[in-house]
Amino acid sequence: MTSTLTTPLPSPLSFIDLRAQRRHLGRAIDDAIARVLQHGQFVMGPEVAILERELAAFCGAREVVSCSNGTDALALVLMAKQVGAGDAVFCPSFTFAATAEVIAWFDAVAVFVDVHPDTFNMDPASLERGIAKAKQLGLKPAGVIAVDLFGQPADYEAIEPVCRAHGLWLLCDAAQSFGATYRERKVGTIGCATATSFFPAKPLGCYGDGGAVFTDDPDLAAVLRSLRVHGEGADKYDNVRIGMNGRLDTIQAAVLIEKLKIFPAEIEKRNAIAERYNAALADVATVPRVLSGCRSTWAQYTIKVAPRVRDRIIDELKAQGIPTAVYYRKPLHQQPAYRHWPTAGNGLPVSEALAQQVLSLPMHPYLDEATQDRIVSAVRAAIGGGTNTGR
Ligand SMILES: Cc1ncc(COP(=O)(O)O)c(C=O)c1O
Repeated sequence: MTSTLTTPLPSPLSFIDLRAQRRHLGRAIDDAIARVLQHGQFVMGPEVAILERELAAFCGAREVVSCSNGTDALALVLMAKQVGAGDAVFCPSFTFAATAEVIAWFDAVAVFVDVHPDTFNMDPASLERGIAKAKQLGLKPAGVIAVDLFGQPADYEAIEPVCRAHGLWLLCDAAQSFGATYRERKVGTIGCATATSFFPAKPLGCYGDGGAVFTDDPDLAAVLRSLRVHGEGADKYDNVRIGMNGRLDTIQAAVLIEKLKIFPAEIEKRNAIAERYNAALADVATVPRVLSGCRSTWAQYTIKVAPRVRDRIIDELKAQGIPTAVYYRKPLHQQPAYRHWPTAGNGLPVSEALAQQVLSLPMHPYLDEATQDRIVSAVRAAIGGGTNTGR
């Protein structure tokens, strides 16, 4: 009689472990939701105003307008800025579709700009080329949506002078970066406004859809508050402008109030994990670079590997129970819905190259060191000992 010895398969890991966070929070969220069920003010209940105050205190913005999701947060600002036909709005191509989608909602033209190969964020030289291209096409340059990709703020000290020189407003798409810092400035205090998302997988996420706009401009905030409730005036049956239904549910605000309490500690943990990953992987892959004086929230930890081996690495890690993700396999200027729109004039080679190279590893604050080490060993083994740096 023969016996077959089989090695047990390693248990699969989570890419983002929301259950671990829930365990850490104990009954806090259950109790917060129960309180909303008790008072019954499901729309614009007291937790919404409390959350807005606490978010403002957290990041230092004068005004916070919570809303339905990160896409609507962007759209509310474009609505307030009265973006319309003939306007050009500049945004990176290497981003999530929502950044450009909202530009189309208002019949404006998105002009796609390239990104920097190290930070994945908007390249100011490409922005200049995009502005020239828009003018050639007879469009009116209106504003810029810079994206803080994967949790790192864009290089605002380089982008702001370009905006000023051309009279453009700057909207920060901080869907992935709320909680991050750009030199002395916290995300939420840069540009004319900042939009974020509280989608569950974001660094600060609720249990459904949610978002917020941050601004230091009280007049803009007043318009945003009106737009979020169908353009209300003195009350919601007084309509002074065209708006939308863009409110944040009270239950989601209650969840976020509890999660905000542990958010600073979670940001510390994310940074510690990123540092360990960097130290352990820098010799086999291109690890992410954070600008000096800046702090990322590590919505994603993204390495670069050689394009020819990326899918093999993904498969080998999957077989080891290690999930990965590719953000983004196609830059927006190559997507069917967006490819008719202009690009900054050089074909956006960095965005196209990154789409072939990037690979995001599991990242969340509840990854213990043993699990990090398991991920690192598997990644090193899959890459094959330092031959594929993706440079
Ligand atoms: C860069 C960026 N902008 C906007 C959004 C839209 O946020 P939401 O999904 O909350 O609408 C996302 C969401 O993933 C995003 O990553």
